[in-house]
Amino acid sequence: MTIAKAAAIGGGVIGAGWVARLLLNGIDVAIYDPDPEASRKVGEVMKGARRAYKKMLPEGLPKEGKLTFAKTIAEAVKDADFIQESVPERLDLKHKVLAEIDTHAPANSIVGSSTSGIKPTDMQVAMKKHPERLVVGHPFNPVYLLPLVEIVGGEQTFPEAIEVAKEIYASIGMKPVVIRKEIEAFVGDRLLEAAWREALWLVKDGICTVEELDDIMRYSFGIRWAQMGMFQVYRVAGGEAGMRHFMAQFGPCLKWPWTKLMDVPEFNDELVDLIAMQSDEQSDKWSIRELEKIRDDNLVAIMEALSRQNKGKGWGAGELYNDYTKQLSKLASKKAKPALKSKAAKSATKAKAEKPVKKVTAKKSAAKPAKKAGKKKG
Ligand SMILES: NC(=O)c1ccc[n+]([C@@H]2O[C@H](COP(=O)([O-])OP(=O)(O)OC[C@H]3O[C@@H](n4cnc5c(N)ncnc54)[C@H](O)[C@@H]3O)[C@@H](O)[C@H]2O)c1
Repeated sequence: MTIAKAAAIGGGVIGAGWVARLLLNGIDVAIYDPDPEASRKVGEVMKGARRAYKKMLPEGLPKEGKLTFAKTIAEAVKDADFIQESVPERLDLKHKVLAEIDTHAPANSIVGSSTSGIKPTDMQVAMKKHPERLVVGHPFNPVYLLPLVEIVGGEQTFPEAIEVAKEIYASIGMKPVVIRKEIEAFVGDRLLEAAWREALWLVKDGICTVEELDDIMRYSFGIRWAQMGMFQVYRVAGGEAGMRHFMAQFGPCLKWPWTKLMDVPEFNDELVDLIAMQSDEQSDKWSIRELEKIRDDNLVAIMEALSRQNKGKGWGAGELYNDYTKQLSKLASKKAKPALKSKAAKSATKAKAEKPVKKVTAKKSAAKPAKKAGKKKG
């Protein structure tokens, strides 16, 4: 399924990133954000995203979708078939916003939450009408460039909703990975949080500065991780004997005092000042907007380089980059608005408005009883 009309609830760093990805794919978006500065902030992110996409597609971008600022959540979601929530990470606020989305959105729409770590089961209790259509769709910043989205279903999420969400995110150039078991912080942020915690210890204990730590990452395994993940990299590191040899060699280190991961450093003013001061020393010669441009140019350059590997087929994110730029070029060459809908979406729209996800997708799944995602085997 592809998206006919989208709504973004929350237009901060992440919400604006979603808006940019959707608009640049030619999709109309209605946004609701109570911040009086929201329009300016989204405009800034759009400028950066357009600039990055021009690097990806020098021959021209597709016609952008139309952005409208709604006065209420109800107005934003009323005719949307895909809604992405990106409000601040507080469960009470997520409940309030999701309840409102649920009340006003068409019953067969898919609702994605950008939450970094809250379990969908804990959020969907606030959705009294159709909790089965909520999925976590956890992106990475900048959403308009980084393709990965972690999809997580809660106890009440229908497997069909996860399938439709996969199609939706893939249709805007993303790589959806469905997380097999629901846990807080999913997979990406589990890894990032572990590294972040260790980094705080290393700086707090005076082992290295913020800048030295960043250099240690970006001149070494940071580059490696962009092209192979942890396991593939370690397989190669095991030499000809591969993964088993690697584990035989480094397995015992797990028991050595190589990590402080089990302890959390005390997050006090002293630590915040130390990190903030060192971060200023490292980076205050650039504004955040300048750093965003540098980051975007680097990300495009990395994906582009990867797209030429593997005899031009592309490797990892580069392979997807090839497909995505082809898809956008095709869209651009159409000039007019694209035919946005797949067969599944057409039948969904026919059945529109008052049929929930399970009924719309029941045809596709040959009327299988809708099982709860939480009961799926991991
Ligand atoms: N920043 C990241 O790197 C990152 C990455 C992935 C996921 N996330 C997740 O995305 C979500 C948003 O994070 P962010 O970094 O964009 O935060 P942010 O503070 O930049 O933006 C939040 C936006 O929500 C708006 N908002 C507040 N109350 C609202 C309401 N009732 N209705 C609609 N909008 C409202 C705010 O005005 C603000 O513009 C969080 O759940 C976060 O965990 C963040």
